Amino acid sequence: MKKKKRSKTVAVIHGPNLNLLGAREPEIYGRTTLRDVDAAIRRLCDELDCKVSIEQHNAEGDMIDAIHKAAARGSGIVINPGAYTHYSYALRDALAAVSVPKVEAHLSNTHAREGFRRRSVIAPVVDGTVGGFGVNSYLLAVRAVVALLDEIRA
Ligand code: DQA
Repeated sequence: MKKKKRSKTVAVIHGPNLNLLGAREPEIYGRTTLRDVDAAIRRLCDELDCKVSIEQHNAEGDMIDAIHKAAARGSGIVINPGAYTHYSYALRDALAAVSVPKVEAHLSNTHAREGFRRRSVIAPVVDGTVGGFGVNSYLLAVRAVVALLDEIRA
């Protein structure tokens, strides 16, 4: 029998320094590596019967290209913009420009950390934000995006 094609797609975009997960400030971000995070995301997407693409970029412009590309494909977006969260108007404008479902995810609870992390220039232009739950922030964000994609298709 022919395998049914999955019609929903989620694009997960990891921002700067997240390639160092596991080794980077483990007291804040834990010991889980980005590879492990990505494996957990792929498992969940299998369960939810949706396609997934995952990218990590340190450069702002590459993240913007990834947003444009995901939106052109009609994919929902889960994005952890890393420190760009707090000051990148270019990333904010890129997300504001696309109308696919989009959720901001953070491993740490940015509101419980340094003052500069309490402000997100991204939050006003996404559907919602999940933060403070480690790897689960990504998984919750994926579930939220899939629910939004289902609403659009209903
Ligand atoms: C982060 C929080 C940001 O403030 C920080 O710059 C990061 C990671 C998080 O996932 O908790 O790089 O986005």
